[in-house]
Amino acid sequence: MSDAAPSVDHAEPTLRLRGVGRRFGGLLAVRDVDLDVAQGERRAVLGPNGAGKTTLFNLICGDIPPSGGTIELYGEDVTGRPARARVKLGLARTYQQSRHLLGLSVEDSIYLSIVGFEGGRLRPVVLPRRDREMRERAREAAGRVAIDHKLGERVGDLSHGEHRQVAIAMALAAQPRVLMLDEPASGLSRGERVLLTELLLELDPSITLVLIEHDMDIALRVASNVTMMHDGRVIVEGTPDEIRANETVHDLYLGRGHRDE
Ligand SMILES: Nc1ncnc2c1ncn2[C@@H]1O[C@H](COP(=O)(O)OP(=O)(O)O)[C@@H](O)[C@H]1O
Ligand SMILES: [Mg+2]
Repeated sequence: MSDAAPSVDHAEPTLRLRGVGRRFGGLLAVRDVDLDVAQGERRAVLGPNGAGKTTLFNLICGDIPPSGGTIELYGEDVTGRPARARVKLGLARTYQQSRHLLGLSVEDSIYLSIVGFEGGRLRPVVLPRRDREMRERAREAAGRVAIDHKLGERVGDLSHGEHRQVAIAMALAAQPRVLMLDEPASGLSRGERVLLTELLLELDPSITLVLIEHDMDIALRVASNVTMMHDGRVIVEGTPDEIRANETVHDLYLGRGHRDE
């Protein structure tokens, strides 16, 4: 057929992985993973420690190359492309370990993440009007994660949970189409977890969320779909209700059934 008439394929997944694997020496950290995430989906990737979640995250973000398989973002094969090319396509993420410039204020940290994103690199000179716009966007992003009462405080003086809020604000300020979070709840207090859960539930519905999480309660509340990993493989996929009812999942989280192969 002719390909003259351009059309938008709404069935096209935002993110598509086929046969993705990653080897570290003799260890297969991620093996033969297929994954389809649709636009606006809330996908949680769950699994015990060492399951390969962070490695999968790094492969999707382009921090490390896969040993095999393909990764597509909005129908574009990005397998061999660097992280910044994926950022340009709308991918934003936070790291499991926040990497803030601790001496900067909250506002400046978020502002810098916008300047960095806009220019593709950090630029020392910005036109005043653009500068005001970006400052406004930084404050807006801070408001969205409820950290706007601490705009002037040094990031290094914040609590661990507030740190996480700033990291998410930095990712949101880049106006991503896909937001990837690696264990945003780790190390948070109970109250901070509640706040994080609310924040994720209120996220712009057009943003696709990929949430790597060890905390099942948060993941199952926030997710529309869940991918369960174990030993580098995807072992179960389903809705939160299906995951709650799944015996394999229970076994894994109760510490049984680890070596039943
Ligand atoms: N850079 C690396 N070099 C060697 N082994 C690694 C590296 N990164 C992760 N691994 C190993 O890969 C496996 C999966 O780790 P990871 O993806 O961090 O799991 P998770 O995030 O699910 O806890 C683990 O056995 C881990 O030790
Ligand atoms: Mg991890």
